Amino acid sequence: MWIIEAKYGEKDFYLKLEKEIFSLIDGEKNLFANLANISSWIYHTLPNLNWCGFYLWDKTDQELVLGPFQGKPACIRIKPHRGVCGAAYTQRKTVKVSDVNEFPGHIACDSSTESELVIPLIKNSIVYGVLDLDSPLKRNFTEIDEIQLTSIMNVVSDKIF
Ligand code: SME
Repeated sequence: MWIIEAKYGEKDFYLKLEKEIFSLIDGEKNLFANLANISSWIYHTLPNLNWCGFYLWDKTDQELVLGPFQGKPACIRIKPHRGVCGAAYTQRKTVKVSDVNEFPGHIACDSSTESELVIPLIKNSIVYGVLDLDSPLKRNFTEIDEIQLTSIMNVVSDKIF
C-alpha cells in the first residue's frame, strides 16, 4: 500500500513528493504503469486539480496523444502548434497559464479548467511528451510549483524513457 506523506504547503513538500514518485517507479519498467501511478500521485497530492495527466508524442502521426491521466475524459490528439500542451512541447519548456481565457488557442477539454501548468518530458534532448495539470482556480500554480515540478519531471523522464 502506498501512503502519501507529502503535504502541500509544508516546506519539505517537494522533497517528499520527489522521493515518493521515485519510490513509485522504482524497479518498474512499464511506461504506462509508471505514468498512470505518477498522474494519480500528483492528482491526489497537489491542491485544486481537476485534471492531471500525460500526452505522449506520436512520431508517426506527429502529434501528442492522450496517455494515462486522472480526471474527466479529455481531448485525444493535440497538434504541436495547438494549445498549452503544444506550446510546452514545441518550446521545450514549462508553460504556466494563470488564466486559460487569456491564452490564445487554449484547448478547453474540461470547461471547469481556469489555470494550467504543462511540463515537457525531456531526455537526451528528445521531448517524449508533456505532463498537463489543470485547475478550476485561476492562478492556482506558483513559480515554486513550476520550478520544482519541472525539476522532478526532468529526473523522472531520465528514469522512465
Ligand atoms: N488544455 C490543454 C489540452 C489538454 S486538457 O486540458 C486535458 C491545452 O490547451 O493544451
